[in-house]
Amino acid sequence: MTTNRELVFDSYKRINEAGSAFYDHFHENFVNADEKIAKIMENVDVGKQQQLLSQSLTHAVLFTQPDAKIPEHLQKLVNRHEKMNLDESYYQTWRLTLLCSIEAFDPDFNEVLKQAWNEALLRLTDIFIKSE
Ligand code: HEM
Repeated sequence: MTTNRELVFDSYKRINEAGSAFYDHFHENFVNADEKIAKIMENVDVGKQQQLLSQSLTHAVLFTQPDAKIPEHLQKLVNRHEKMNLDESYYQTWRLTLLCSIEAFDPDFNEVLKQAWNEALLRLTDIFIKSE
């Protein structure tokens, strides 16, 4: 049986083929979802935003495993976000926007894959939300 990790990792590879178009799609929808998010992201340069998203996706692949440990670099990232005092709802917007972009760019997207991504993204965002 295909594991959630395999499903999500294969999807991750297909999305990466789209290159920066995927990142642009995510970014546009993320900042358009909430003007407070737009304000926060205003001064983050495009290179950093792309890095932000590509790292996030690799973390999500990791958290397809329910017992995954939080790596040290992720803990540092969580601590940096904690200082930004972000609203819980921003993380929800982040997750839903990401799911939407994955759906738009993965030609093999389906309901099972959506659940697999969603579970992993929920585990990831929970780590950030619980530290707030
Ligand atoms: C679980 C969800 C999230 C993950 C995994 C994540 C990941 C990251 C990563 C990897 C970076 C670092 C980029 C770099 O410096 O190399 C970053 C920076 C940043 N993130 Fe997030 N992010 C998340 C949610 C959010 C949300 C919801 C917001 C705001 C609405 C946000 C705002 C920012 C900002 C403003 C920076 C740049 C900070 C700076 O100037 O160094 N992030 N994020």
